[in-house]
Amino acid sequence: MKDQIEKLHQKALASLAEAGSLKELEELRVRFLGKKGELTAILRGLSQLPAEERPKIGELANQVRDSISKTISEKSEELKEEILARELEKEKVDITLPGRPFPVGSRHPLNQVLDRIKEIFIGMGYAVAEGPEIETDYYNFEALNVPADHPARDMQDTFYLPGGYLLRTQTSPVQVRTMEKQEPPVRIIAPGAVYRCDADITHSPMFHQVEGLYVDENVTFADLKGTLEHFLHQLFGKNRQVRFRPSFFPFTEPSAEVDIACLMCGGSGCRVCKNTGWLEILGSGMVHPKVLEKVNYDPQKVGGFAFGMGVERIAMLLYGIDDIRLFFENDLRFLRQF
Ligand code: FA5
Ligand code: MG
Repeated sequence: MKDQIEKLHQKALASLAEAGSLKELEELRVRFLGKKGELTAILRGLSQLPAEERPKIGELANQVRDSISKTISEKSEELKEEILARELEKEKVDITLPGRPFPVGSRHPLNQVLDRIKEIFIGMGYAVAEGPEIETDYYNFEALNVPADHPARDMQDTFYLPGGYLLRTQTSPVQVRTMEKQEPPVRIIAPGAVYRCDADITHSPMFHQVEGLYVDENVTFADLKGTLEHFLHQLFGKNRQVRFRPSFFPFTEPSAEVDIACLMCGGSGCRVCKNTGWLEILGSGMVHPKVLEKVNYDPQKVGGFAFGMGVERIAMLLYGIDDIRLFFENDLRFLRQF
């Protein structure tokens, strides 16, 4: 019986040494030490032994049981560590790897220019006003001294909508809406989208204007010129060539347009400036007395100046962009440059 027990001991230790998983280990425990296990089976024969041998064999059996138990728990620890190490290896994070790039967008160049324009006028004490893009004939034309059948309507090709509405062709209607609501002094700019049936490399069917209006007592053409010159110097720097050119608008008298030396060709002439060396960026003038009368201002007491500038044209001149359509195509290769 002693032999049997020792053989069992050796067999158990050899099997345990080879166990590769916790499950296998548990199976071996049941097989050797369980109630129906091999050691128990041997000990069942204990009663047939002579009484004096029983304690010795019993002691040996206990030693073997302890030895196997101890080996099982050691092996179990070992296996658990191995499993953990394997898990850690699998989940390892290499903190020295470079991070994944996270693409960040940027503000559209037109918004950047618009912000700059607003900033300059807010700095001169102007407030920002807004008006609707769908307008009535009255605000877009009538109130601005452009009655029906007036030839000046041909200056701006209008998109008409059903029900007497139209898409505003200019931000000038915001002048009228503001003066209707407010007594002088008025000092506002009104940025926004406008629409004209017009398309080439410097004309877009939808583009943006910033209107300006200053009405008070004793406002002169010198104020208009000084204000716009200050603005243009702030925006383009003092060295950029600027010219005022006499012009006509039904809602201003006298009127002037402002041109900036073409950046694309430096003034020598190209397709952007249509070989003139200049690009027109705004229209302006002294508010016509008829416009003041429409909003019940007294032209004998107050007067003012107004202007309307093209935001895309200004952006083209600031950044050297030679086709207005680039602003609206949303080609990322273009947008990423700003
Ligand atoms: C006007 O729209 C007048 N309302 C401006 C004004 C306001 C005059 C207040 C007097 C007092 P004009 O049609 O010239 O004027 O347009 C003004 C500017 O908008 C132009 O100088 C040009 O820079 C820009 N512009 C005009 N048409 C287009 C277009 N299709 N695409 C892009 N920019 C344009
Ligand atoms: Mg013009």
